[in-house]
Amino acid sequence: MRIPLTLFLFFAMITCSCLSSHAQNEVRKDTNNNESLYRPIIHFSPKKGWMNDPNGMFFQNGVYHLYYQFYPNATVWGPMHWGHATSKDLIHWEHKPIAIYPDSLGLIFSGSAVVDKYNTSGLGTLKNPPIISIFTQHSMEGEKAGKNNFQNQSIAYSNDGGNTWKMYPGNPVIKNPGINDFRDPKVIWHEPTKHWIMALAVKNKVSLYSSENLKDWNFESDFGELLGNHEGVWECPDLFSLPYNGKTYWVLSVSVNPGGPNKGSATQYFVGDFDGHKFSTSSSKTKWVDYGADNYAGVTWYNTGNRKIAIGWMSNWLYAQQVPTDKWRSAMTIARELNLQEVGEEMYLTSMPVKELKFYKSNYLSEGPITQNLPYEINIQGSNINSFTLTLNNEEGESLDFGFDQSTNQYFIDRSFAGVHSFHKDFAALHSAPRISTKSNFSFKVLIDKTSIEIFSDNGLTVMTDIFFPTSPYNNIAIQSQSEEIRKNIKISSLLAK
Ligand code: FRU
Repeated sequence: MRIPLTLFLFFAMITCSCLSSHAQNEVRKDTNNNESLYRPIIHFSPKKGWMNDPNGMFFQNGVYHLYYQFYPNATVWGPMHWGHATSKDLIHWEHKPIAIYPDSLGLIFSGSAVVDKYNTSGLGTLKNPPIISIFTQHSMEGEKAGKNNFQNQSIAYSNDGGNTWKMYPGNPVIKNPGINDFRDPKVIWHEPTKHWIMALAVKNKVSLYSSENLKDWNFESDFGELLGNHEGVWECPDLFSLPYNGKTYWVLSVSVNPGGPNKGSATQYFVGDFDGHKFSTSSSKTKWVDYGADNYAGVTWYNTGNRKIAIGWMSNWLYAQQVPTDKWRSAMTIARELNLQEVGEEMYLTSMPVKELKFYKSNYLSEGPITQNLPYEINIQGSNINSFTLTLNNEEGESLDFGFDQSTNQYFIDRSFAGVHSFHKDFAALHSAPRISTKSNFSFKVLIDKTSIEIFSDNGLTVMTDIFFPTSPYNNIAIQSQSEEIRKNIKISSLLAK
């Protein structure tokens, strides 16, 4: 995918001294504690310990809550708790105490949370509606004993806006019928039927349940056994509606591990209809929320009105437990606003960084030398898409290439030479994604943080997220393209709170 230099009539190199020499020394001194080299700035990461899936996200009183799969005592997966963080703008996160601890029914696996506005559960009052979280409890004892019913669905309730939680004494609320993989409940309120609807990952399909009170659940229907990617187990489903051209569509997303388009774990989705009981789609195409290697288990926030906002775990089960961070492992993607776009006969999901990011954007850096540090945003827009390669590199000779290859009509990220990769044989790789848009004009937005790249092409139709681990920060950016328009139109701006 690397574009041969000789093919290019033009080569533009923008050299940036992104780090002062003082900062570079700091990074080198820091090798035993790679906090300053690897800790992301505009992405959420736990202070210490292990993190995987985002869980239980809801919005209330101007605050976005994010819970997450958390093991505080090691940097590898272990007995799961729900960690907790809050934000007013989805970019800057405040760490909160652990929200939910394992109990006698098991570990606290992935799930969701809702604002029970009408107090249907009776676990709060109409004046102070409870927040209800719904999650899987995984019994380690049950699993070890070779049972097949060790994953059950439980609920907890909060009467103080999501800060502290009490377990519901009637748990579990859905008992396992004898299926090993039976988890990750995602609940929404369905106004037309005035019922709560739960999407649950059950082995190789999504089962839908309904309830009037979040405590008693009825099975409604199954979806997906014969559709989509089935190389791995299905996990973390989400069901939500989005408007497009005056019509309401329903989207069912579900993560699969393995089976991702660039190996390992990834999230696929289906666009169709939901009648309150059954989800159906007329498309048989497998579509991916993100084609990169590092966006998994993403789901949407509850209670965000007309906006649909999602966040994903920015890693991959292939190597997540081996990445070279010392005190913590994993970060979340940038929060993304979801929409729909029709291309040909097909409906596609688009994801773009939330608009709140604009409050972090400073002046353009491309005009004149770049003197500011990470993170930053790169934008290219053009009337005609042609091949181009952007390269980030450092003094150690490490480089990250990304761009578009016209001969294959694919966007790509090549992290083969991007830095540390020996922790897993599949890490150093070239990842590619189809260009879905059929228009000649294009847009290419890239977010770069210390260890991540997120590409949003064609207004979010093709998205790629990858992580990388350079041994010193990248301090150069170069663009290669035959197209003068593309070279001239690159805009780089730093992303720091104003
Ligand atoms: C997805 C997942 C979920 C599960 C959780 C456990 O990454 O495997 O299915 O609930 O992680 O931490």
